[in-house]
Amino acid sequence: MDRTRFCLIGAGRAGMVHARNLAFNIKNADLTAIVDIDSKVAGKRGEELGVTNLFTDLDEALSSDLFDAVVVVTPTFTHREILVKCAEAKKHVFCEKPMSIRPEEARAMIEATSKNSVKLQIGFMRRFDPPFLHAREVIDSGELGEVMIVKSVGRGPGLPPPWTYNVAESNGLLGEVNSHDFDSTRWLAGSEYRRVYAEAVNRKVKKLEKEYPDFYDNVVCTVRFDNDVIGTIDGTCPVDYGYDARTEIVLTGGLISIGEVRGQAYFSCDVHGVIRENAWGSWRNRFKDAYLDEMRSFITSVTDDRPTLVTGQDGLATVQAVVAANRSLKSGAVEEVGS
Ligand SMILES: NC(=O)c1ccc[n+]([C@@H]2O[C@H](COP(=O)([O-])OP(=O)(O)OC[C@H]3O[C@@H](n4cnc5c(N)ncnc54)[C@H](O)[C@@H]3O)[C@@H](O)[C@H]2O)c1
Repeated sequence: MDRTRFCLIGAGRAGMVHARNLAFNIKNADLTAIVDIDSKVAGKRGEELGVTNLFTDLDEALSSDLFDAVVVVTPTFTHREILVKCAEAKKHVFCEKPMSIRPEEARAMIEATSKNSVKLQIGFMRRFDPPFLHAREVIDSGELGEVMIVKSVGRGPGLPPPWTYNVAESNGLLGEVNSHDFDSTRWLAGSEYRRVYAEAVNRKVKKLEKEYPDFYDNVVCTVRFDNDVIGTIDGTCPVDYGYDARTEIVLTGGLISIGEVRGQAYFSCDVHGVIRENAWGSWRNRFKDAYLDEMRSFITSVTDDRPTLVTGQDGLATVQAVVAANRSLKSGAVEEVGS
């Protein structure tokens, strides 16, 4: 197979990042179909992307022979049902993070893709971001010794979508935003989560307090891995200053720092000495190349029949850690991961 034909499932915010890459930026891919339950969204996006095979019904799309692979970019609580159907229709699956809400859903997704011999990759694009990749290489080389602490920050300017307000049904901010931190911290630590302890508070979105008493917009989580690496993951959404994804790794022989708040090549200074620099505005521009490279890598896995670089097991491990962290918020205690 020289070219991989894709169907986009869910043409919203993140879906359009992948759709534009597949339609315009990746040579050996074709975006041949779009599924979105909202026909107006499908129509508008189809026009922009030059795609005429538009569906509101996934089963109808799957019964066509229009594509070999799908990109699942729908709200997280729909991932399991959609992914299992696609796998059973023998479509390779790129699935956005978080893989699922509950670990048992992720396990069913892994089973469906493995039973039907189709590829599965989870959308943890940080693993394709040059600074994160470089950090992993330096750790692997051993030149700075062993990792002792990983400190990961994940903050964004917008409030996650309304379906995330009910934490019991969505895993809240820890799931929707900090999944990335849970995955990259585990990847950099090179071990499995053993236990977590989390504290959270709702400071800025008081209007949600009454209807969603468990909602939080600030969270800090302490983690410990099986190899005794320790760390913290902190999240705040919304923040007023921009998009912020930074990681610090303390090693026995040095320090690695990934990312910075200042995103754009812009600097100004006035007569009063006031300096202005632009922060990253969005995950879309901070990880622009990583979104492209993760999709290129997925396509290579499909065309060359190679394992994907971010697997269902990686997705499951993150769901387990996120669920344990939310359990800790309820119990006020340290929680073991993996159950
Ligand atoms: N990797 C990243 O950096 C990143 C960034 C943002 C979102 N995400 C993830 O992407 C997923 C989607 O998030 P979003 O912010 O793009 O959501 P969104 O609300 O902007 O878009 C979701 C789209 O899916 C459609 N949809 C809903 N249910 C559907 C169904 N059953 N079948 C087909 N279409 C359906 C909606 O009509 C909508 O157009 C989430 O899992 C989210 O966590 C990842």
